[in-house]
Amino acid sequence: MHNYKDLGLSNTKGMYAKAIDGKYAVPGYNFNNMEQLQAIMSACIETNSPVILQVSSGARKYANQILLRHLANGAMDIVKDAGSNIPVALHLDHGDTYELCVSCIESGFSSVMIDGSSHSFEDNIALTKKVVDYAHKYDITVEGELGVLAGIEDEVSHEVSSYTKPEEVEEFVSKTGVDSLAISIGTSHGAFKFKLKPGESVPPLRFDILKEVEQRLPGFPIVLHGASSVVPKYVDIINKYGGKLENAVGVPEEQLRKAAESAVCKINIDSDGRLAMTAKVRETLATKPGEFDPRKYLGPAREELIVMYKHKNEDVVGSAGKA
Ligand code: G3H
Ligand code: 13P
Ligand code: ZN
Repeated sequence: MHNYKDLGLSNTKGMYAKAIDGKYAVPGYNFNNMEQLQAIMSACIETNSPVILQVSSGARKYANQILLRHLANGAMDIVKDAGSNIPVALHLDHGDTYELCVSCIESGFSSVMIDGSSHSFEDNIALTKKVVDYAHKYDITVEGELGVLAGIEDEVSHEVSSYTKPEEVEEFVSKTGVDSLAISIGTSHGAFKFKLKPGESVPPLRFDILKEVEQRLPGFPIVLHGASSVVPKYVDIINKYGGKLENAVGVPEEQLRKAAESAVCKINIDSDGRLAMTAKVRETLATKPGEFDPRKYLGPAREELIVMYKHKNEDVVGSAGKA
């Protein structure tokens, strides 16, 4: 058993308490490789922001779970070396089984999500409670989910979303003991969040549902998944240099800013990192066709990621300066 506290990591409890009071959200950034992690850490140290490093089960398979623990450990050494003390959580994103959550807890994660949203309400409660009972023994925080987001979450793909039913949230939270709750209010995973007809603009998120959830669970931390803005600049660069992303569209930044000021205290962003990285790699390879040193195209991609994450912390989730 590797205890996250020995790695210098934090669970999400203190981060969320401060975020609720301060009317901002902590960013949940996914990573799969060294360059993404370096960029997230640089941006969060430079902006003095708390951060939740998110690992999906696909990321865990890709990067190797042992190496991941060492990467997270190394990230904490970098924080110390920079003279910073930003809180950092290592979080399992969209855990789908009890066993996966236990395995992550044993390998040093400080927080896990058990995503039982594809199960019935009763089965979701039973699965989530089982994970909470285990995780709380080790002071590890647990995120549950009610309502279904459209898009792809690891191998699970949902064609359509179903909004969270506010009348279910109190029973879910009290019966499971979860520390935070992901809800579905119109966001979705991936780079194609809304199917818009010509001239149509992105529909607003269901702030009415969010408000009712907040009223039913005063002061309780709410999580927003699928919160990439699908930054048009990166989509354009990708398409300019040989990519083919048609009708890619995300959640407008103003809507995320508004959500961050509410009980939403974690905002999940993965796709924007993928897009920024792909844009820079495509641009570099297309404009410098003789280049074959990975450092020469992954390096600029990493620099662009730092710019993008700093912007999110400063202007979108509002976590800059809040560590
Ligand atoms: O919500 C899903 C995240 O973007 C993780 O994606 O399962 O492809 O690593 P992934
Ligand atoms: P995006 O696909 O919008 O980046 O959402 C990421 C996410 O919710 C990770 O859990
Ligand atoms: Zn998600």
